Amino acid sequence: MAPRSGSGAQIAQTRQCTSLGLPPIGGNGTSFYKYSKSQLRKAGEIFRKASEAVILTYMLVARSMHPTWLSNSWLLADRPGGEAVLIDTGGPMGPIEQALGEHKLQLTRVLCTHHHYDHVDHNEDYIRAYGCPVCAHAAEIALIPGGDTKLADGEEVAVGSLTLRAIHIPGHTSGQLAFALDDRAVFTGDTLFRGSVGGTRAPDHTHFEDLHHSIMEVLFELPKEMTIYPGHMESSTLATEWECNPFVRAWRGLDDRRHDPVWAFGEPAELLLEARDYDGGTKCWVRFEESSRLDVVPGSRVQPR
Ligand SMILES: [Fe+2]
Repeated sequence: MAPRSGSGAQIAQTRQCTSLGLPPIGGNGTSFYKYSKSQLRKAGEIFRKASEAVILTYMLVARSMHPTWLSNSWLLADRPGGEAVLIDTGGPMGPIEQALGEHKLQLTRVLCTHHHYDHVDHNEDYIRAYGCPVCAHAAEIALIPGGDTKLADGEEVAVGSLTLRAIHIPGHTSGQLAFALDDRAVFTGDTLFRGSVGGTRAPDHTHFEDLHHSIMEVLFELPKEMTIYPGHMESSTLATEWECNPFVRAWRGLDDRRHDPVWAFGEPAELLLEARDYDGGTKCWVRFEESSRLDVVPGSRVQPR
């Protein structure tokens, strides 16, 4: 493996900030998480009201994370005995199937954030087991195993009494989708992680400018109190990432950029930021010297020059 660039001391750290959102869901299992009204109020959660009665005071979520890829599958339902959707299928199926059985849930759809193998690995297994449609953005549905239902930007998907809204956020891939649950939570795929962001050199990537727009002008237009459920590792909130994520801070102009000469993918480049990635490695924001092209790339592809 190529050496990583920079020294530990130079790597931008995710700042220690107090989360404004709900407690993050940790671990890897089948537990359903039910938030109390006081927790929701404390987190500034927005309650939906119908006929003056408060409804939807909690949501149910199960998570399965792949032990090596660290990719998440998120199971979302509105209540035991109701409908459920699965966002991405890269996590082991066991915990998801157990949760479906335990809570007597009907899996109605698989929703794909994007086509990378660590997010779609079990698509066809879920089709065989549950006969459910597999939904993805039109730009990459041909790359999605079992993909049969196109979702457009803004299209809504009902999950029992819940509504998920598909949001097109290209950059990491051309048809990358986020899924927003009202004003409460957003599944961000490989675009925004806790403390990091997606790269712009993965298969079917578009450009840094798309990724920047998708994060800064699409995801961060959502209410900051929203919890984020990323495609890899732990959850966070938009508020926490707005204040603490090194890439977001750099793009807001809050922190100084570096200007170190490096090799990136074997080409001369300028290192603007190096920060911890979700997997314990680093991720770098670079500008290539010849083309002035900006990119977010794995630290393993960047060496000092
Ligand atoms: Fe990806």
